[in-house]
Amino acid sequence: MPAIKDILRSMDYGPAPEAAGHATAWLEAHGRSFDHFIDGAFVAPAEGQRFEVTNPATGGLLARVAQGSAADVDKAVAAARAAFGPWSALPGDLRARHLYAIARHIQKRERLLAVLESTDNGKPIRESRDIDVPLVARHFYHHAGWAELAETEFPGAVPVGVCGQIIPWNFPLLMLAWKIAPALAAGNTVVLKPAEYTPLTALAFTEIVKEAGLPDGVVNIVTGDGETGAMIVAHPGIDKIAFTGSTEVGRKIRQLTAGSGKKLSLELGGKSPFIVFDDADQDSAIEGLVDAIWLNQGQVCCAGSRLLVQEGIAARFHAKLKTRMAHLRVGDPLDKSIDIGAIVAPVQLERIRRLVEKGCAEGAACFQPGTALPQKGLFYPPTLLTEVEPASTVATEEIFGPVLVSMSFRTPDEAIALANNTRYGLAASIWSESIGLAMETASRLQAGVVWINSTNLFDAASGFGGYRESGVGREGGREGMWEYLRASAEEAEPAAGPEPAESQPSALPVADAETAMRGLPGIDRTAKLYIGGKQGRPDSGYSYTVLGADGHPAGQAGLGNRKDIRNAVEAAHQAKAWGAATGHNRAQVLYYLAENLAARAAEFEARLASLTGTAAAAAKAEVSLAIRRMFYYAAQADKFDGAVHATRTRNVTLAMVEPWGVMGIVCPDEAPLLAFVSLILPALALGNRVIAVPSSRHALIATDLYQVFDTSDLHPGVINIVTGARDELAKVLAQHDDVAALWYVGSHAGSTMVERESAGNLKATWVSHGRPRDWLSAEGQGPQYLRRASQVKNIWVPYGE
Ligand code: NAI
Repeated sequence: MPAIKDILRSMDYGPAPEAAGHATAWLEAHGRSFDHFIDGAFVAPAEGQRFEVTNPATGGLLARVAQGSAADVDKAVAAARAAFGPWSALPGDLRARHLYAIARHIQKRERLLAVLESTDNGKPIRESRDIDVPLVARHFYHHAGWAELAETEFPGAVPVGVCGQIIPWNFPLLMLAWKIAPALAAGNTVVLKPAEYTPLTALAFTEIVKEAGLPDGVVNIVTGDGETGAMIVAHPGIDKIAFTGSTEVGRKIRQLTAGSGKKLSLELGGKSPFIVFDDADQDSAIEGLVDAIWLNQGQVCCAGSRLLVQEGIAARFHAKLKTRMAHLRVGDPLDKSIDIGAIVAPVQLERIRRLVEKGCAEGAACFQPGTALPQKGLFYPPTLLTEVEPASTVATEEIFGPVLVSMSFRTPDEAIALANNTRYGLAASIWSESIGLAMETASRLQAGVVWINSTNLFDAASGFGGYRESGVGREGGREGMWEYLRASAEEAEPAAGPEPAESQPSALPVADAETAMRGLPGIDRTAKLYIGGKQGRPDSGYSYTVLGADGHPAGQAGLGNRKDIRNAVEAAHQAKAWGAATGHNRAQVLYYLAENLAARAAEFEARLASLTGTAAAAAKAEVSLAIRRMFYYAAQADKFDGAVHATRTRNVTLAMVEPWGVMGIVCPDEAPLLAFVSLILPALALGNRVIAVPSSRHALIATDLYQVFDTSDLHPGVINIVTGARDELAKVLAQHDDVAALWYVGSHAGSTMVERESAGNLKATWVSHGRPRDWLSAEGQGPQYLRRASQVKNIWVPYGE
């Protein structure tokens, strides 16, 4: 026992262990053996198999838990399906009461849940007690509110159905709350699978579900490993998959669910930058860094794992950081005075070791303070890697451990370029005393969450989720609720029955086509492609004949190919200024577009009638509605804006609506002018640049628009049109890594292909599955189009001293 004067000299903490008796008693009461929780009761695994769950800090056995088989998943899905009807029909205020009761019961059991979480996962008790569990309760309280308000805040929307939810091991109970609370609030039922390393708090949660009087079957918990997860993903009785975990598995899930009509949200990995400018409060930034990379041993998807520090202060900042690292305490997760607990599993520890070794082999300098590590258990010291190249493995791969990688930059532009130099885009942290610099940087970062002079702040009222390969969809707040609702027409079920075959254009060399067309009365010359504001011949040198309604050639359209799409994507990327323009400026251009179309309405009516055979009155109605729609989206350009979320801490949390950037839009045959305008305009209004593939059959209606575009002050490259074999071109767009989002309105087969081929860069897709849309009705216009044309970036700006 050290004397008080020794303690005062060293200012060292003594051990402050949290009692584990309560959690041990709970495990013993269950005989350290757990079944699945299905239809309100514990159900033994059909195949009788169980796996062991151990304490990563000691290696000791905690419990044996059921391994889910196909029969178990079937049973859980059946229970959730049976419960869905009554639960979704329950008035929102009654669902709210259940969610509210769950929140209350979580608070009553805070200590048990926190100790169990730290024992199972290895995270410091300080974190599970002060961060995880309070946020879990907050999530259920907040979503009790959404249940109450669902009908009025999301008019016309309906719950998705049975949700399969697969969660990781890093925040086991918190991820459960992020998944279950919005699902239930919206009226869905769930089958949730916790991660195999950390199922215990999910099992403890089942008791809360019972206490809160939730109807049987609304929440079902099936335990097991990745195979069980894959069974949930593939199950035909599931309507939505919500997954948090590795990008690799997320990509697989995207491919496996392609064409199934299952709604999908993915929250995946990250390599988030932590940017320190030379005017930052360095001591605060150091403390921020401790939270950013050493919270939960760095096993955090949004960990600030890439330090980018301005060159002039780098040496001093690294020195301060090393001093701070030497004071971090690594040890027993149940000790209230430790900073870093145990790594979740041997395989994760091995992965961290391997990646750090690789970093050193690739030339990084490695600093680890001489921190004492416990003799047994899975521990890894806080680590700093400097002299790292931006392209090296440790600078690009997610390590998911207490390892910080540092690089320096000279100018803000360089910092932004380095920060965005990643395939991920989950979060970012910016440290500067200049609000102008911080906000400018925040606006230019490709990340779903940006913390200014802060880090790792979370709240149920704010959406959380990534750009690019960090995932699709948001969790939390209003954005998160949409992931568990269907707006009419927004997500279509696959169409039943056989589909008409996609029309296959047959090629004709452009020169021959032009000769063939010359001299024919009323027939235009061959329409070209429209790329970068210019009309140009297709790369193939071929065109195809577009037939009129009378079966005779109406003209020729260019037969675009892969190269043309690539050129169009490049042109769209160069037209960045459109995204940076104000909503007001974009609105002016779109109003002008509408006026110019109106000036040529008669010409378009005639063209529509001759191409589609529609009656003159119907053609007139379609053109007139197309013009109205242009005005509607012009009006929305400066109105579909963001929000300031009411998060709990003293922050202005800005939910900024941002365009995807470059979008592909593949248009249908029906109502060819109106559908084209209805799809392109919302994307343009919000600042996207578009590569549009019009209906092959009626391509000339889109190519007639070139002159309207040319006279409307649209910047070159903002809209690019590639005609040709629609599905072939859609496939090239789906596979293109520089296309951020892709809409496809067409066949079910084409929709399946688009979803599957988009898995490469995990682009956001919106497909119609062959379900016809009534373009003349409200289905063809509205906020759902704008929501799908944008993503939300949440910027946290703290205030107060
Ligand atoms: P993982 O992605 O394999 O596991 C996450 C969850 O998915 C678990 O419940 C697992 O059982 C389940 N799962 C695994 N394969 C599946 C499949 N084919 N179909 C459906 N479900 C499946 O992650 P893992 O292997 O535990 O960790 C590997 C790496 O992934 C980590 O080192 C880290 O880089 C990253 N990771 C990222 C997380 C995040 O929050 N973004 C969370 C966990 C891991």
